[in-house]
Amino acid sequence: MEKKWWHGKIACQIYPKSYYDSNGDGIGDLQGIISKLDYLKALGIDIVWLSPVYRSPFVDQGYDISDYYEIAPEFGTMEDFDTLLAEMKKRGMYLVMDLVVNHCSSEHKWFQEAIRDPEGPYGKYFYFRKGKDGHAPSNYRSYFGGSMWEPVPGREDLYYYHAFAKEQPDLNWYCPELRNKIYEMINWWLEKGVAGFRIDAIINIQKDTTFPDYPADGPDGLCSADTVVSRASGIGEMLEELKVHTFQKYDAFTVGEVFNMKEEELQEFIGEQGHFSTMFDFSQHLLTAGEHGWYEQRPFCFEAWRDALFTAQEKAASVGFLSNIIENHDEPRGVSRFLPAYAQTPAGTKMLGTVNLLLRGIPFIYQGQEIGMKNAKWNSIDEFDDISTKDQYQIAREAGLSDREAMEACNRMSRDNARTPMQWTSGENAGFTKGTAWLKINPDYKEINVEDQENNPDSVLNYYRKLVALRKSDEFKNVFTYGEFIPEYEEMDDILAFYRTDAATSILVVANFGTDAASIELKGNVKRVLMSNQKNETVDYTKNRLNLKSCEAVVLDMEME
Ligand code: GLC
Ligand code: CA
Repeated sequence: MEKKWWHGKIACQIYPKSYYDSNGDGIGDLQGIISKLDYLKALGIDIVWLSPVYRSPFVDQGYDISDYYEIAPEFGTMEDFDTLLAEMKKRGMYLVMDLVVNHCSSEHKWFQEAIRDPEGPYGKYFYFRKGKDGHAPSNYRSYFGGSMWEPVPGREDLYYYHAFAKEQPDLNWYCPELRNKIYEMINWWLEKGVAGFRIDAIINIQKDTTFPDYPADGPDGLCSADTVVSRASGIGEMLEELKVHTFQKYDAFTVGEVFNMKEEELQEFIGEQGHFSTMFDFSQHLLTAGEHGWYEQRPFCFEAWRDALFTAQEKAASVGFLSNIIENHDEPRGVSRFLPAYAQTPAGTKMLGTVNLLLRGIPFIYQGQEIGMKNAKWNSIDEFDDISTKDQYQIAREAGLSDREAMEACNRMSRDNARTPMQWTSGENAGFTKGTAWLKINPDYKEINVEDQENNPDSVLNYYRKLVALRKSDEFKNVFTYGEFIPEYEEMDDILAFYRTDAATSILVVANFGTDAASIELKGNVKRVLMSNQKNETVDYTKNRLNLKSCEAVVLDMEME
């Protein structure tokens, strides 16, 4: 396999609005991030993916961009951005931007021009269609609720297409001028020195532009966005052209947010000649998805979760590298989601981190994950800011759930769970801002915060630092980067275990997710205990047995027979 500069790197995701507020307006900003670069460096982070920082009306928190060449004033200036780049370079770190090009904001000048004159030059940058018998052109439900078609103001019977909010009109990737504008913009950022992009909602750019109706799957008579996407094809050629005109020329790092990929396409996406460097593995997150909404989320099941994780690892093994996440800005906190109540402790949190960070692939740590941040408790729908949460609440109510039941679903699944401000200290506003935070701060900041954990050698933070350091150590970086992933002890309930092996080394990672202690037969000799999530790193093993307490995780350097 050809070696790439980003193999073996550790990435993190920053959600700028909630990271650190440097000027007291309650909103995180670029100067705030700059002031925390040493913190990120100390964690061992090489690549930072910034959620969108472009100018935006923030209908969907910056995923609705009104100017691709400007920094949102809420976050600072282009000068601040250049400082951030320079400061990262100084520290040997790489900046990855969010590339949101399936849609732009309805306030983008292209769209403003287009609705003024849909038959004019900008009209073809978007999808305008005539209605059918006084109805929308087709029966598609947007991701955030309601029809994907919105009437054009002042134009009788003309609609535009939006897969997400109506303020996020889809861009027409079948229009060559539009594609060229996008390539130009991407290259402008790459010229500036960004190392690459996380590529938002990219599968949505392919469309069946005849927009046929599909069978309805809900009482609203609409069909889901998932159906719409999976009926379209042709993404491969589009992504290849994109790559050749942009990323490839700069040896950029790209990570795709890809849902609804056809299984046989993995090679085309992340193989050696793939469209992207890597893509996120969402298999764990999709596992419990409800058919009609969050209110139908299925209960979490450990075995199914382990299977999903292992299957994804096995499928990628001979193809390329997945990017592994526990959580991101669209997902609830992993500690609250993947751990049973008895494991939502520092030990359990470390255990979850151990099995995730040592998988084969590129680890992405989401801000706050490294201190074990959890879902917040939300008492009323008014406390949420997220557009999707408001929609899901509505869906649940319309399905007949009470306010309390709908709120339960939102508490479990809301995207705002991951968007509450970063917990820096036990002081006022968790040390995030000197003003009023734009979103509720999780009251557990008194127990869970960076400052306390810095001072505690047994903290989750210091454990994460050790894990990252182990992964990147001269001795083991080859096995953790290029080594094989081999599942182990799958017949045992509650045990998640795997080897990472190369010609020279066999590492065994074992975790006991159960309430009871477990005893495991070792298939080789323990040369060295590399990590343990227990106090004083004491591990109970003999020549061929390993005894694990509930929520115990260990990493062993093995000598195999
Ligand atoms: C992606 C983003 C999400 C956003 C959506 C629309 O899924 O991660 O936050 O709402 O795309 O841009
Ligand atoms: Ca600010």
